[in-house]
Amino acid sequence: MPEYPDSNELDRIVGELTSLPPLVTSWEVEALKSQLAEAALGKRFLLQGGDCSESFHDCRPSVIANKLKILLQMSLVLVSGARKPVIRVGRIAGQYAKPRSSYNETIDGQTLPSYRGDLINRFGFAAEDRIPNPELMLRGYERAALTLNFIRGLVEGGFADLHHPEYWDLDFVAHSPQAAEYRRVVEMISDSLQFLENMLEGKVDEFERVDFYTSHEGLHLFYEQAQTRIVPHREGWYDLAAHFPWIGNRTRDLDGAHVEFFRGIANPIGIKIDGTMGPEELIELLEILNPNNEPGRITLIHRYGVDQVALHLPSLIEVVRKKQKVVLWCCDPMHANTETTGSGLKTRDFRRILAELERAFEVHHEMGSYLGGVHFELTGDNVTECIGGARGLTERDLSKAYLTQVDPRLNYEQSLETAILISTLMRKYGDG
Ligand code: PEP
Ligand code: CO
Repeated sequence: MPEYPDSNELDRIVGELTSLPPLVTSWEVEALKSQLAEAALGKRFLLQGGDCSESFHDCRPSVIANKLKILLQMSLVLVSGARKPVIRVGRIAGQYAKPRSSYNETIDGQTLPSYRGDLINRFGFAAEDRIPNPELMLRGYERAALTLNFIRGLVEGGFADLHHPEYWDLDFVAHSPQAAEYRRVVEMISDSLQFLENMLEGKVDEFERVDFYTSHEGLHLFYEQAQTRIVPHREGWYDLAAHFPWIGNRTRDLDGAHVEFFRGIANPIGIKIDGTMGPEELIELLEILNPNNEPGRITLIHRYGVDQVALHLPSLIEVVRKKQKVVLWCCDPMHANTETTGSGLKTRDFRRILAELERAFEVHHEMGSYLGGVHFELTGDNVTECIGGARGLTERDLSKAYLTQVDPRLNYEQSLETAILISTLMRKYGDG
């Protein structure tokens, strides 16, 4: 937790945040939970993606719309591969706080506290930028509300209408190496929709909008707590800062504050896990966080890295089955495939990302389990942060449009290419 220099100011801000309306509602949260429960049973597939670290500066219409577009496009491709409904969840409207591997950062001999996300301090490299400022929580809440308002307007207003996938086209789709495959999927879905509507002799309203949910790492407990409420007609507490908060890999200690907080909320929650999580610890954690084994409550987001996934995943699948726990398994192929280039940029090799996905599908399939979701760091813009992909980005290209403030994201083309691969893998393995 950040140490704020002025605790009265912190209390005042948390008080104000507590009095403001929630960002999401318990109705939506419960609807998502039941969809995740179906995904755990193999009847749906979860697509979760967005920035590693959202910035306040990127709360702009084009950035938000492009992110929504790429997630809609990916989900369309996945629907065609999975032949089941896809749940769309953005790392968006609140992904503003970051755990960092080191407390300090040194540049040209000067050492300052690390940047911890726009919710906590500022990216600039001056001493005053790095002082935690509680006011930023209010700014974050407002940015989240603006983002969400725009997304809701687009989705409700017809932007996400399956009859008009051309609305989601990005300018560079036409030049993308995946353009032909994407168009083929769009045509196939349009034909099926047309066929269905001809049979039913009318337009199917259900296809005029899609559900879109928000998620972020529930790292900053002051922010989460201020949005956590009891609502009329329901039991328990809801964290209404996002539909689907998750516990990060660094804050999942059994006796830590984050687990204690998450234990008390009714939302569906994600838990990030790596190779340090053993079978016994996992069961203990599940008993704390989901004592009634409620379906849809827990999504396990494994992020092992391509070399480790086959080593660690089987014993967890095994123990979850043996103890009859209901979980949704989701693969994050980004976080354990990070490397640093000679010039000090963090990057990820696209081949390793795809390879971890493929290994994860294989392992689940071999063990009679179902990989029911994927978790990405991506953007709808044309950045150069990850190496590889159909356009063959190299280390030298990275500096062209390296915009992330924390982890490297898949760009638009790499994201679409990934969805096409997953869609193939699902036809091969993902029959739940
Ligand atoms: C993240 O999702 O950006 C993150 C910090 O992940 P993890 O907790 O898996 O390291
Ligand atoms: Co990240």
